[in-house]
Amino acid sequence: MNTNKEELIKRLDEKYNAIGQNTDVHLEGLVHANPITYWDYILPEALLGLQIQRTTCPDEMVFIMYHQINELLFKMILWEIDQVSNNENIDAAFFTEKLRRISRYFDMLSTSFDIMGDGMELEQYMKFRNTLTPASGFQSAQYRMIEFASTELINLIDFRFRATIDRNTSYTHAFEHLYWQAAGKDYTTGKKNTLLVNFEKKYKQMFLDKMEGYNSSNLWTRFKQLPTEIKQDAELIKAMRHYDYTVNVTWVMAHYHAAAKYIGGGEATGGSDWRKYMLPKYQRRIFFPELWSEEELKNWGENL
Ligand code: HEM
Repeated sequence: MNTNKEELIKRLDEKYNAIGQNTDVHLEGLVHANPITYWDYILPEALLGLQIQRTTCPDEMVFIMYHQINELLFKMILWEIDQVSNNENIDAAFFTEKLRRISRYFDMLSTSFDIMGDGMELEQYMKFRNTLTPASGFQSAQYRMIEFASTELINLIDFRFRATIDRNTSYTHAFEHLYWQAAGKDYTTGKKNTLLVNFEKKYKQMFLDKMEGYNSSNLWTRFKQLPTEIKQDAELIKAMRHYDYTVNVTWVMAHYHAAAKYIGGGEATGGSDWRKYMLPKYQRRIFFPELWSEEELKNWGENL
């Protein structure tokens, strides 16, 4: 046996001894193991079997698949954010690298939104959308998780109630005042529309757990914990601002223009007052507020 093999066997022994396993049995298993293939590993058959239309309109497939692509990218984004959240000793290089990855994924989502905006026949959309009420992309849980993971809760609270909420407010109270409640909650009666009721029935507990989990480990808090000289790094600040703007303005506006094209003056499937609800100047959702000037904050999402 050459030294390289001896060394490998030694390392395998160390690995398996540490967990009370016999290396020989594992090596014997390798003799019979199937060689790996692309299809066993990437699972294209499973992935490509997940596109189920509700109508006969061919463009409904574009709608389903592009949403699924979004969900896959949302998962990639959360994967990277979680590495920043779960790492107690991040340095500038690690933080910057992860932030660039996260940003690249969201860039991909905003620059590809034409697939929705231009890629479906209006006539077909008007037909298949009727089978989707009262569902909406609003009910994407990962989208909400990205928000919780990106910033402090106060920045996700409806602007009208921010002054009444601080770090001592309970998570359930804060939840009731998240900016997105405005899509379906009547604050005078407390009544919620079906879009919200269904969403909360499915995900409220998970959201409360995430709100607590990311409370001190979201991207913004992690950034603020970095040493001062790193926080002042021009490239890092540029990357942070880029991510903030891409998620909260560029993507939102690409999405809004698609909605305007397909829904026009009509009702949204989720039933929100979407023409007002979706605009950044009303939502005022800003992940990293201290990285923007007063002027920029004042004009957030104006003139778009
Ligand atoms: C033609 C395509 C689309 C139209 C017309 C559209 C329309 C809408 C409307 C009107 C809303 C407001 C809630 C409601 O009342 O339904 C909404 C929310 C939302 N949609 Fe879409 N959407 C489209 C594509 C997408 C895609 C591809 C995604 C990707 C996952 C998506 C994700 C979302 C999210 C995350 C929200 C909540 C945004 C927020 O709370 O600010 N939508 N959409």
